[in-house]
Amino acid sequence: MQDLIFFGIQGSGKGTQAERVAAYFDLNIFEMGAELRSIAQEESDLGKKVSAIMSAGELVSDDVVMDIVERFLGNISADTHVLFDGIPRTMIQAQMLGTLLHTHKRSEVGIYIELPEEVALERLLLRKRADDTEEGIKKRFENYYSATLPVINHYREENRLITINGNQGIDEVTAEILNAVKNYE
Ligand code: AP5
Repeated sequence: MQDLIFFGIQGSGKGTQAERVAAYFDLNIFEMGAELRSIAQEESDLGKKVSAIMSAGELVSDDVVMDIVERFLGNISADTHVLFDGIPRTMIQAQMLGTLLHTHKRSEVGIYIELPEEVALERLLLRKRADDTEEGIKKRFENYYSATLPVINHYREENRLITINGNQGIDEVTAEILNAVKNYE
């Protein structure tokens, strides 16, 4: 088993599926957005800065994000497999994460949950999370296309990407992911 990295437009169901897939394979979930939401609640300068960036739908700096991942990887044992949700989102993060994982003798495969933007938008507006305003979502979509799609394409070119149809029921998406991971060499 390798570490899994979940990709997909905001609202594609990464968080929803991460819990199910991690429970099935007994993986440790690392959810970047949740880590950052927790920092954003702190009264520190960093907390205030991260909170403002997230409310605007912008990406937190690569340095801050990579520090958090590095600390996480330093604290888990080598035989624990990880499901990454929300990282990497930029090519720089992809390079840094790749180096970190290989330093820790880990290997990874990407799981791309594909979903049309209009369906993702509908789901996010129904969810009503604090950063799910129309303006914030638009900004997050823009960042997804400009910064994260190149990362997904990079994984595809390296033959390390499994693409899943996210435009079906939650159970069907889970079944497709579990099946694909079990059959992945
Ligand atoms: P993050 O928390 O990762 O939010 P996001 O990227 O916007 O992703 P979402 O949680 O919105 O989407 P999801 O794909 O997990 O969908 P979900 O399962 O919830 O990041 C938040 C912010 O943190 C970013 O904007 C950024 O500022 C910062 N950040 C995070 N990572 C960063 C990084 N690496 N670098 C820099 N900054 C970073 O599903 C959505 C809804 O759809 C739910 O209501 C769910 O119930 C429903 N749903 C799911 N699947 C289905 C289905 N099959 N059918 C019907 N409904 C469904």
